Amino acid sequence: MNRILEPELMDDPEQAHIYASANFTEENQGFVDRFLQAHGHELENAHVVDLGCGPGDIPIRLVQAHPTLRVTGIDASQPMIDIAQRMVAEANVSDRIELRCQRVQDARFPTQVDAIISNSLAHHVPNPLQFWYVIKTIAKPGAPVLVMDLIRPESTEDAQALVDQYAAEEPERLRQDFYNSLLAAFTEDDVAAHLAELNLSRLLLDVPDDRHWIVEGRVF
Ligand SMILES: C[S@@+](CC[C@H](N)C(=O)[O-])C[C@H]1O[C@@H](n2cnc3c(N)ncnc32)[C@H](O)[C@@H]1O
Repeated sequence: MNRILEPELMDDPEQAHIYASANFTEENQGFVDRFLQAHGHELENAHVVDLGCGPGDIPIRLVQAHPTLRVTGIDASQPMIDIAQRMVAEANVSDRIELRCQRVQDARFPTQVDAIISNSLAHHVPNPLQFWYVIKTIAKPGAPVLVMDLIRPESTEDAQALVDQYAAEEPERLRQDFYNSLLAAFTEDDVAAHLAELNLSRLLLDVPDDRHWIVEGRVF
């Protein structure tokens, strides 16, 4: 099955609200735990960037689990950033999380950043090489990177089966977004080709379950 793009941004307020209300605790905490287990010891006072931070759940979990790192979360959806601002304020971590309403392709920093994370953004970006190029450009040499996203199934029937298996009880809008995201996602081979194209040879690709790929390592 070929990739079918979905809208790049989740900038419909109702869509953002439904996404932010869904329970991604297991997935998001697992992502944070994995990143900190591997790199927590080298992140003292580090500047971590979260590409496509959505409602901010991962940045919040990250600063709550580490005493000194700070996060810049970037998302080009104003409704998502509005929700993230509220969540960050409610969690009392505004002094450690900065939020930017900006396309990741336009992200620039005065100095290269210490680490980069991104969950469930890559499939939104029409040109995946732009996504990896940003990572390569804004990260300092040797910076840890953790990226996770969906894997495109082989058929629309397989995509629907995953939606029915993992989002049976979710609101219809979330189920539809999940389905569209699976169709817009990359295969394992796609991701391997993107990494090779940009010479990101110190990033390793893993497939931890039936619907995700993870890229982890360092950028040089
Ligand atoms: C599926 S959500 C994931 C949010 C968050 N990372 C999480 O794990 O909960 C994807 C987010 O990426 C944002 N997004 C998509 N394309 C983007 C781009 N080019 N630049 C910045 N944000 C983008 C969307 O607006 C949306 O909020």
